[in-house]
Amino acid sequence: MRKLAAGNWKMNGLPENLMEIDNLTQSHPDPKVDILICPPAPLLFATAAKSTVVKAGAQDCHAEQSGAHTGDISARLIKASGATSVILGHSERRQDHAETDADIAAKTQAAHANDLIAIVCIGETHQERLDNKTLDILGTQLQGSLPEGCTAKNTVIAYEPVWAIGTGLIPTLEQIEEAHSFIRNTLVTRFGDTAKSMRLLYGGSVKANNAAEIFNVANVDGALVGGASLKASDFSPIITALAETA
Ligand code: PGA
Repeated sequence: MRKLAAGNWKMNGLPENLMEIDNLTQSHPDPKVDILICPPAPLLFATAAKSTVVKAGAQDCHAEQSGAHTGDISARLIKASGATSVILGHSERRQDHAETDADIAAKTQAAHANDLIAIVCIGETHQERLDNKTLDILGTQLQGSLPEGCTAKNTVIAYEPVWAIGTGLIPTLEQIEEAHSFIRNTLVTRFGDTAKSMRLLYGGSVKANNAAEIFNVANVDGALVGGASLKASDFSPIITALAETA
């Protein structure tokens, strides 16, 4: 399995920031891991055209192929832009746009139907962690957000504790290991052997100074990186740390 370093630019970045992709390509001409940048949608075509090493991904898609959905973007168009992947069910989408597990399952199905890799995000809130409900929440989100037919090729899971996103806080390595092993077992029970090589990313305040220890945790096959993916100088050492475990 090739590990995956995925950058989520969220609603950050302007055309001039695309030079960061050139910088990443120069630093990692022949990487041992997959590198993905998910820019805001208007930059998707340009991102995909920039580099053969750094792939492009979207941050959301609509469940329908086309139609009267002002402001939305179809998985078909994302694929046509040259992107390989789409992030789905990020906690900011779940919160800001009231996306449900069922919505995310429908979007994941649309991604699969258009030959895109779905990066499906799950994670508990701080209160759920305090209430000892983390594994229940992860189980419910996995069950509801994934359609039938998920394979190691078409699906990546990102475990992102909501309270770790953009806060500088991360769970203990034991907590990450517990969550990832639970996710692995749950996926294998439902999808069979293919889930043994499905990539499980950790996300939430991954930085150059904590990446290596996180990547050494069992069942962590990469990272979904927000803030530290905006600049090549921040993202590059994270990619290097992942490549060292590959
Ligand atoms: P962060 O964001 O790395 O800035 O915490 C991660 C994410 O939201 O995917």
